[in-house]
Amino acid sequence: MPKVTLSVIKADVGGFVGHSSVHPDLLEAARNHLSTAGKDMLIDFYVTHVGDDIELIMTHDKGVDNPDIHQLAWDAFVKATEIAKKYKLYGAGQDLLADSFSGNIRGLGPGVAEMEFEERPSEPVVVFMADKTEPGAWNFPLYKIFADPFNTAGLVIDPKMHKGFDFEVHDLIEHKKVVFHCPEEIYDLLVLIGAPGRYCVKAVYSRTTGEIGAVSSTQRLNLLAGRYVGKDDPVCIVRCQSGMPAVGEVLDPFAKPHLVAGWMRGSHHGPLMPSGLDHSTPTRFDGPPRVVALGFQLANGKLIGPQDFFADPSYDRARAVANEIADYMRSLGPFEPHRLGLEELEYTTLPDVMKKISGRLEPIE
Ligand code: F6R
Ligand code: MG
Ligand code: MG
Repeated sequence: MPKVTLSVIKADVGGFVGHSSVHPDLLEAARNHLSTAGKDMLIDFYVTHVGDDIELIMTHDKGVDNPDIHQLAWDAFVKATEIAKKYKLYGAGQDLLADSFSGNIRGLGPGVAEMEFEERPSEPVVVFMADKTEPGAWNFPLYKIFADPFNTAGLVIDPKMHKGFDFEVHDLIEHKKVVFHCPEEIYDLLVLIGAPGRYCVKAVYSRTTGEIGAVSSTQRLNLLAGRYVGKDDPVCIVRCQSGMPAVGEVLDPFAKPHLVAGWMRGSHHGPLMPSGLDHSTPTRFDGPPRVVALGFQLANGKLIGPQDFFADPSYDRARAVANEIADYMRSLGPFEPHRLGLEELEYTTLPDVMKKISGRLEPIE
């Protein structure tokens, strides 16, 4: 059986308006590029946006990290950037390390999540895409989906899942990785992934079949000016059913919005609000952070779909809760834990302030 590769590659190449959304003409430019230049390369593709990020969902048979596929995606973003520049959209080209500087050092490149697998007789997948947060935002839901029996009934009662799953965790600062065998190592796993600013679940594998179940976009953090930068709005792919968690088990963790880092200036904690595609436009304080879940059935690599899962009214309550949490967090203003800790801030004036007051700093008796 030939293998299929599912590649999700995203970039912010210009916001419409501010950092809130993507202009439809940019999406059209990216689509045009994939359908012409990608004609002989891709099996299928779907282009959309979540907040200010363009999302390229592509299938092909070239495996992960394929230079031609990555070039194709890059060029699609370049085409979109050309229009962003013409329209003077905000931060045009920001994730392409390019000409336009939007006031911070973000945008070390597009985010990528890819997996290669043998397509099963039926292959349901969910593509999660988030805006205004970081890759560690997936730690909490991935733990619940693949390791928490209170979320995923299959871990308890499905013989194809009862052995559990392996979690590959990356340390984004030391650039090291480790695999935890769950359930027996869940306490060790949680020590690390409970700190999502540093440790990220990169991939999850079935212990029954060895097959990949999930992959996320993570990227190394780089120490610049005494702070770690390079966090990026993340994507994640999850395979479902028949020995993997059911679609409903994969979506359920998002019914209770968890707090993630990101939001305004990448420097605040806030609730991750599940949204349908039509509502993935972060407005309030540039947020709250959004997550969209698109479902596809793969058919010989063709993307049959999408199903816009969080448009479902059963997520209305989660949105209401997220709004309540947002009210509360916003009431804290510049105080932690709404604002991130000093070493995690994406924007900071601390060195300047310290310089300004240096002559007035006195020892405490
Ligand atoms: C967060 C984000 C926005 C911007 C904010 C300030 O990831 O993209 O919240 O950080 O709008 O943007 P600048 O500094 O470009 O004016
Ligand atoms: Mg932006
Ligand atoms: Mg974004």
